[in-house]
Amino acid sequence: MDQAKGLRNIVKKDALIKKEAFMASENRKYPRVIAVTSGKGGVGKTNIVGNMAVALSRAGKRVVIIDADVGLANIDIIFNLRPQYSIRHVVSSEMSLQEVMVTTDHGISIIPGGSGFADLTQLSEGEKLNLIGEFEALADISDVIFVDTGAGISSNVLYFNSTSDECIVIATKEPTSITDAYALMKVMSQQHDSKYFKLIVNMVDNEKEAKRVYAALSSALDKFLKDVVLEYAGFIPFDPHLQKAVQKRGLIMDLHPLSPASKAMEDLAVNLVNTTRRPHSQGNLKFFVNKMLGVAN
Ligand SMILES: Nc1ncnc2c1ncn2[C@@H]1O[C@H](COP(=O)(O)OP(=O)(O)O)[C@@H](O)[C@H]1O
Ligand SMILES: [Mg+2]
Repeated sequence: MDQAKGLRNIVKKDALIKKEAFMASENRKYPRVIAVTSGKGGVGKTNIVGNMAVALSRAGKRVVIIDADVGLANIDIIFNLRPQYSIRHVVSSEMSLQEVMVTTDHGISIIPGGSGFADLTQLSEGEKLNLIGEFEALADISDVIFVDTGAGISSNVLYFNSTSDECIVIATKEPTSITDAYALMKVMSQQHDSKYFKLIVNMVDNEKEAKRVYAALSSALDKFLKDVVLEYAGFIPFDPHLQKAVQKRGLIMDLHPLSPASKAMEDLAVNLVNTTRRPHSQGNLKFFVNKMLGVAN
């Protein structure tokens, strides 16, 4: 073998090793942070987060859910948990994040927050630093972090969306849900420079209906917000089993695993983590936490 070729092979091998090491460190250090959001409330965010989390934990992923939804039905209800503490106790330095976390039977860790997340940007520098340290420890215990952000364009919803790896917008076929989803993406793109979203259409009868919702949103974006990209991720059918499960303070994935909505959410969850991260994705845990708390990164 001539020398040059030998050298090229070494360089190539070196690059490959570096790439592998990089990917491994990426996977280890940076859990994927996925925000699930909507313009309008009551479109299924909390159930989608809970059930996708179950699907992924069954697939062997370590999943954390941050409950930042200040709406009525919080994630602890469908997991039938009654957490005693919340993010407030971490902010006040009374407890560590690991101590307020509750673990479900599936092994999913939940950080109860509710309204406690609403004013995180108002914290003192000391409180922020404390929280940053706490959140960074999540990197060691999780592969995927879901953020149930709540609906609308309040500042905490926007913070979570803009700091996550991925922002999944949930909409239904209701016109108000579509216009509110559009309004959310508009604010996100104009005020937070977020240009990339995924869409899940919930509570439709079939794919055709879901695609109609997607078409309505993407044509509005094409017209008025040309630099925003909305990717169609899939749909979840309207499924009475889901409502029955909620009434029992449970998850459809546990109670009716073979029902249409369970299957759809399982497929969506698996697809979500199997797609490679966008190369320009800013999301990593440190960035996420710093930005969430309004600290320069
Ligand atoms: N795929 C679905 N099929 C039938 N009902 C659904 C479906 N998704 C959500 N729902 C209904 O919508 C309600 C609100 O869902 P939830 O997850 O709490 O929404 P959000 O978190 O967006 O406010 C549920 O309690 C359930 O009755
Ligand atoms: Mg909710």
